[in-house]
Amino acid sequence: MPVFADVDTGVDDAMALVYLLASSDANLVGIASTGGNVDVDQVCRNNLGLLELCGATAIPVSRGADQPLSAAMRTAEDTHGPAGLGYAELPLHQRELTGYDSAEAWVRAAHAMPGELIGLVTGPLTNLALAVRDEPNLPSLLRRLVIMGGSFDYRGNTTPVSEWNISVDPEAAAEVFDAWGRAADAKVIQQHQLPIVCGLNLTENIMLTPTLLSRLAAASGATTTAMSVLDSRGTRSTADNTLIRTLEDAMRFYFEFHFDQGEGFLAHLHDPLAAAVALDPSLVQTRAATVDVELTGTLTRGMTIADWSHRWGRESNAHVGVGVDPAAFFDRFIERVGPFARRLQADR
Ligand code: RIB
Ligand code: CA
Repeated sequence: MPVFADVDTGVDDAMALVYLLASSDANLVGIASTGGNVDVDQVCRNNLGLLELCGATAIPVSRGADQPLSAAMRTAEDTHGPAGLGYAELPLHQRELTGYDSAEAWVRAAHAMPGELIGLVTGPLTNLALAVRDEPNLPSLLRRLVIMGGSFDYRGNTTPVSEWNISVDPEAAAEVFDAWGRAADAKVIQQHQLPIVCGLNLTENIMLTPTLLSRLAAASGATTTAMSVLDSRGTRSTADNTLIRTLEDAMRFYFEFHFDQGEGFLAHLHDPLAAAVALDPSLVQTRAATVDVELTGTLTRGMTIADWSHRWGRESNAHVGVGVDPAAFFDRFIERVGPFARRLQADR
């Protein structure tokens, strides 16, 4: 299945990209870099470096807009580390970005395989919104769209009510939900083409722990030391597998951040869940709803609202994720990424 990923690589975005590269049923045809966890140029560097690390250097990476549609740019180095990948360092490379921007990359990929492309967004929706402005038929050109974003009947992680990807560019998110809603009203898309939205209410069930990370290392055949909250801050991984070592160094920073937030020495794998859903929507239970984004609320800007009961009198424009079995996700994640890391190490 051809997948186009729009990411703000960050730690969990990186894990999502690794999952796609490790999945034999996925053909990652392109990556759009969107500023978010870190600025757009650092996201580009992270994407190119990660592809180098994973031996996937033929996948084109494009650079997205410098900033959100109208909001001021904000980044989250406190959460993902100064370079966006925690303590991990990526290999040097000579690779270049595409000569066209991320909005054009979306349109080119969709036109190249009309009705077949699966779109995945795990960052702010700035470049997807710009792509829809350029190509209003994008909703009908995509086979599927999965968005990691929003929070439904659940708290936010950036303000009390808004989730990071939506909060960085609420206008873009509103334009995306509106575009798919209008396509549904015009009956130019079918129900399965409505975006599957993985909000915090869903993704915060996916809690990566040091034990699960050790299971991943074991599945790769690596020897490593299990992480502990008692370790000194910034302790580097000793794994004898390069990809596992990189993921452990990236995740440690993320574990430390969650611990400091009072959530435990763990990490929510928001984006890897969305990537797994992009390949297999049956991993989650969803409910159809009309979703819109608050843009002017003094306290609620960036909040995603699901009109479950159609009080607004508008057609459903999204399938909102409402249930997931974390164990099933981790089994699939580990059974794909573990052997992938093993194969990469064997080829080094
Ligand atoms: O709110 C979680 C989302 O924001 C994830 O995609 C994370 O990578 C950040 O982009
Ligand atoms: Ca992200």
